[in-house]
Amino acid sequence: MADQPALNTGSHDLPVTPALAAFMADQWAATPLPADHRVPGYAHFPARRARIAEAFAGERLLVPAGQLKVRSNDCDYRFRPHSAYAHLTGLTGEEQVGHVLVIEPDGEPVLYLRPRSDRAGGSAEFYRDRRYGEFWVGRRADLAEAAQLTGLRTAHLDDLPKLFTGSAPTRVLADVDPVVDALAGRPSAEQAVRDGQLAAALSELRLIKDPWEVEQLQLSVDHTAAGFADVVRALPAALRHHRGERVLEGAFNARARAEGNGTGYETIVASGAHACVLHWIRNDGPLDPAQLLLLDAGVETDTLYTADITRTLPLSGAFSSAQRDAYELVLAAQDAGIAALRPGASFRDFHRAAMRVIAEGLAEWGVLPVPAEEALREDSGLYRRYTLCASGHMLGLDVHDCAKARAETYLDGVLAEGMVLTVEPGLYLQPDDLTLPPALRGIGIRIEDDLVITADGARLMSGALPRTVDGIESWMGGLLADR
Ligand code: GLY
Ligand code: MN
Ligand code: MN
Repeated sequence: MADQPALNTGSHDLPVTPALAAFMADQWAATPLPADHRVPGYAHFPARRARIAEAFAGERLLVPAGQLKVRSNDCDYRFRPHSAYAHLTGLTGEEQVGHVLVIEPDGEPVLYLRPRSDRAGGSAEFYRDRRYGEFWVGRRADLAEAAQLTGLRTAHLDDLPKLFTGSAPTRVLADVDPVVDALAGRPSAEQAVRDGQLAAALSELRLIKDPWEVEQLQLSVDHTAAGFADVVRALPAALRHHRGERVLEGAFNARARAEGNGTGYETIVASGAHACVLHWIRNDGPLDPAQLLLLDAGVETDTLYTADITRTLPLSGAFSSAQRDAYELVLAAQDAGIAALRPGASFRDFHRAAMRVIAEGLAEWGVLPVPAEEALREDSGLYRRYTLCASGHMLGLDVHDCAKARAETYLDGVLAEGMVLTVEPGLYLQPDDLTLPPALRGIGIRIEDDLVITADGARLMSGALPRTVDGIESWMGGLLADR
C-alpha cells in the first residue's frame, strides 16, 4: 500500500481567482443592527446569571450553546442551543453554534462568540465558508452587537482556550460541546461530580418560571392548540391517505414552523394500537375511522419554550361506547391529578391521585387479579401493566424540563408557585393483552395538559382544547363542518 497517490475527490467549491478575491473584499455598505435591538425578555436574564454566580462564587463556570451535529455527509441537523445557555443569555438562534457563556470567578458573565467576519480585513469567510459564512447561513452579530443584544461583555471565541491555562477552579456544563469538553480535558471523578453539581444547579434554576417565561409558555400552548385544530381539519384528507398519520404530523408541524421555531419534540401521531407505544414517532400508519387517534405535540416558540399537550380523538368524530368508557376513566384520573396540584403538595401527589383512580377503574372492570388497594401498594404495582409511565413532568425550555435537578428539589420535592408542569395520565391497553376483554384491546389513551402552579392551586394553560367526551365531539364537529 506504500506510495499510493492521494485520493482526488474533487470539490464543489469553484476556485476563487485573485481578481475575484480583491473584488469581493471591497464596497460593502455597513448594515448595523437597530440601536434598540435586544433579546426578547432582556430584563430577566441578569438575575438568573447572578443566582448561578452566587451559588458557585469564586469559580469559573462554562455554559456552552453546543455544536452542530452531522446528519449525514456534509449536512448537519438544524442547530438549537442548549436550554441552559438560552436560559442565561436569551440567545436562541442557529448562529449561536459554538458560543459559550462564561461566568468569571468574580461573578462577571462574558459571552465568547464567533463574531461576524470582517469583510474589510480580507477574510473570505463571509462568502467561502459553507458552515459559518453569512452568504451561506446568514448574518451573525459582531462583538459590539452581541453586547448590545444581551447586555453582556463579549469576547472572541478564539480566546476561550486561554481560560484553561490558569488555576481558577472551573466547572463545565459537560457533554454539550465536544470542543469545550476537549479543552477541559478528561475530568477526574471528583471534577465530574463538580461538573454534575453545575448541571443540577442550572436545571434547578429553571424549576420556577418568572412571569415572562409563563407568558412564553402560554404562547406556545396557544400555538399548539391552533395546531391541534389544524390536525382535525386535515382529518378527511388524512383518512384517504395510506399514511394518514404522516399527513396529520405534517399539518401540526407546519403550524409549529409557521408560528414558532418548530416542534418542541418529535410529534406523536398514533392511531389505533399505535397509541399503546408510548413514544410512537414513526407515524407511518393509516387511519381507521373506527379507531382513536392519540396526538401528542407541542410548538416551540422562537424563544424556545415548548408546550406538551395530548388529546385522544375519535377518528369518526364520535366515541364508541368502549372508547368512551376507557376515555372517561383516564379523564377522571387526570381530574384527580389536577385537583392535587397546589403549592406545598409533594411533586408525587398528583401522580398518586391519578393512579388511584386508574387502579380502582381497572379493578371495577375486573381486569386486575388483585384488589385496587393491593395493586397500588409499592411492593405490587400490578396496575402499571396498563399505564407504565409517570403522570407528568416539569415543562419549559425543554419538554422534560429541569431533568438534571436533584431528586430532593424535584421528584421528591414540593410544588411551588411558578412551576409549570404537565398532568398526563394514560391507559395503554395492548392489542395482545389476554387479561383484557377483546373490546378494550388496542385502545391507547393519554390526556395531557399544561398547568402553572398559582398561589392557591393551579391554572390550566391548555384549557382552550376540550377534554370531555362531549366537548371533544362538538369541537371536532364544528371544525369539520366549517371546512
Ligand atoms: N411528549 C412527551 C411527553 O409527554 O412527555
Ligand atoms: Mn409530557
Ligand atoms: Mn406529551
